[in-house]
Amino acid sequence: MDGVFLLFVAIFTAYLGTMATRMKLKLKTVFVLYFTVSLMGLVYALMQLGQRCDCTEHDMAKDRAISRLRDELHRLQAQIRQLEEAKPPQKQPSKSSLPTIFVITPTYARLVQKAELTRLSHTFLHVPQLHWIVVEDSPQKTPLVTDLLMKSGLTYTHLHVPTAKERKLQEGDPSWLKPRGVEQRNEGLRWLREDRRDGQQGVVYFADDDNTYSLQIFEEMRNTQRVSVWPVGLVGAMKFESPVVEGGKVVRFHTGWRPNRPFPMDMAGFAVSLKLVLTNPEACFDGEAPMGFLESSFLKGLVTMDELEPKADNCTKVLVWHTRTEKPKMKREEALQAQGLGSDPAVEASPERKVQQRRDDNR
Ligand SMILES: *[C@@H]1O[C@H](CO)[C@@H](O)[C@H](O)[C@H]1NC(C)=O
Repeated sequence: MDGVFLLFVAIFTAYLGTMATRMKLKLKTVFVLYFTVSLMGLVYALMQLGQRCDCTEHDMAKDRAISRLRDELHRLQAQIRQLEEAKPPQKQPSKSSLPTIFVITPTYARLVQKAELTRLSHTFLHVPQLHWIVVEDSPQKTPLVTDLLMKSGLTYTHLHVPTAKERKLQEGDPSWLKPRGVEQRNEGLRWLREDRRDGQQGVVYFADDDNTYSLQIFEEMRNTQRVSVWPVGLVGAMKFESPVVEGGKVVRFHTGWRPNRPFPMDMAGFAVSLKLVLTNPEACFDGEAPMGFLESSFLKGLVTMDELEPKADNCTKVLVWHTRTEKPKMKREEALQAQGLGSDPAVEASPERKVQQRRDDNR
């Protein structure tokens, strides 16, 4: 702008000079004109000095926008880095090729059922490639178990079969009188035999809903060829029962009661390969087996002691415990219910059932 104006002044001055010579104007007039125009130019130039140039203003707005966008870019880049760091480590690519662990859990309605299944489901959530087969002892699937399984985040199959009346424990019977969960475990086996005819790699484990399971026990059993075995803690009125291993083979059993049973082991102490289950379609639990012989009734057709695969460092580690949950007292609940002040039945703490019909004495 200034440049154009000064050029204009210069041209004008030159023009005046030429005019003056041509038209022979008075020198004084020319001087006055020249002086006026120069003064105007000077004043204009001075005015411009105090002002910010328009273009600078534009540049600064642009600079501000660029710096804002750059900040935004850095923020987003940081965010991406954070998200990448937070991402769970890549699952082993071999995950889907791991043998599946089919866990068969018999369960029945009682006050602690929802608590037990909740706890168990949380253990299983930590185990890759696990398929939970939950078999309810009931004439139909209950809403409590249905809902719990649906929300569990686990791969599962929900089955049910009621225990035959003559085999059900009666009020007052001690829990060891008749073996429990027989029909339910057999129902789980039936489902496996019907639905898993392909040559899928897998292992079958019977996991009651009240036991405590180390995550490692699942990796110990995963590659079972026939039947794998390990110690079980807090069972048979002992610190633990266990197969005794010599030279890598099971030679006898450490148990305090009838050690000459074919397989004096707790249900939680062995796993069977899926292949063995499928190639022996007759193998199942015998509900009429004498006390303590239920595990043997299933295993004796499948394997010999010599063939047992000892796990858990040659059966020197206890990775599963036969824990029992105390039966909750309901004395105050019942007293309040008698006054019509019982806990809101719409709040699901346990299965809908006022008093437990079944005794839950410890074995
Ligand atoms: C188990 O015992 C056998 C024979 O003593 C030995 O070769 C093997 O390494 C042991 N396994 C483990 C996991 O300790």
